[in-house]
Amino acid sequence: VFNPIITIDGPSGAGKGTVAYRLAQALGLNLLDSGALYRIVGLLAHEAGLLDGQVADLEEKLGALTEKLDLAFRVNDDTKTVEIVIDGQVLTKDIRNETVGGYASQVAVFPKVRAALLKVQQDMGKKGVVADGRDMGTVIFPNATAKIFLTASAKARADRRVAQLQMMGKPADYEAILAEIQARDERDQNRAAAPSKPAEDALVIDSSALNADEVYAKVVEFCAQKG
Ligand code: C5P
Repeated sequence: VFNPIITIDGPSGAGKGTVAYRLAQALGLNLLDSGALYRIVGLLAHEAGLLDGQVADLEEKLGALTEKLDLAFRVNDDTKTVEIVIDGQVLTKDIRNETVGGYASQVAVFPKVRAALLKVQQDMGKKGVVADGRDMGTVIFPNATAKIFLTASAKARADRRVAQLQMMGKPADYEAILAEIQARDERDQNRAAAPSKPAEDALVIDSSALNADEVYAKVVEFCAQKG
């Protein structure tokens, strides 16, 4: 298929990012990490004091904040990593932590925020893309070439997160991490706007008992059938 679009949706910690990165490399496609967009909006909203509760016209304010952001992804040829550029500046803040993940899922419930992020995401699909998120196959790219929904039990995902943190020498409280994962799942699955769920034509993979290579092999096999 010319300019294929491969979508990988599912809850946090199921291994979407790892598979998406590997697949994009193998196929020479761009990578869309849609969660990063919601994380940026979440962080900016937090910094603007919008997530402190009891804010009037919250959706309007968040929608306006998101709309005026100039967001882009850019490959840094020196480091071979994808950088996020906001209003011309490369993002250097840490957005990959559970605190920011929580802010992201708070702003992600609002249709005005989602609508403001639609175009930047769909534009990335024009040259072919591997896209990971919650609604890539259901909302953003309904006509994708191949759709995958990668999930795993909350316990398996908490175990992986703890192992990751320990490897980085950071403190890891299993019970707290499990509770955060469950709270974020709950919000992402039960919201009215683009709830996290498999597209009807998605291959569902449960990675609880699989390693990264096994997951990747299943994904590649499925994409080969579709492509
Ligand atoms: O995938 P990641 O953990 O980075 O996403 C952070 C949060 O952003 C999710 O918990 C979800 O609330 C939101 N999100 C979304 N739609 C996407 C990607 C992320 O609502 N396509």
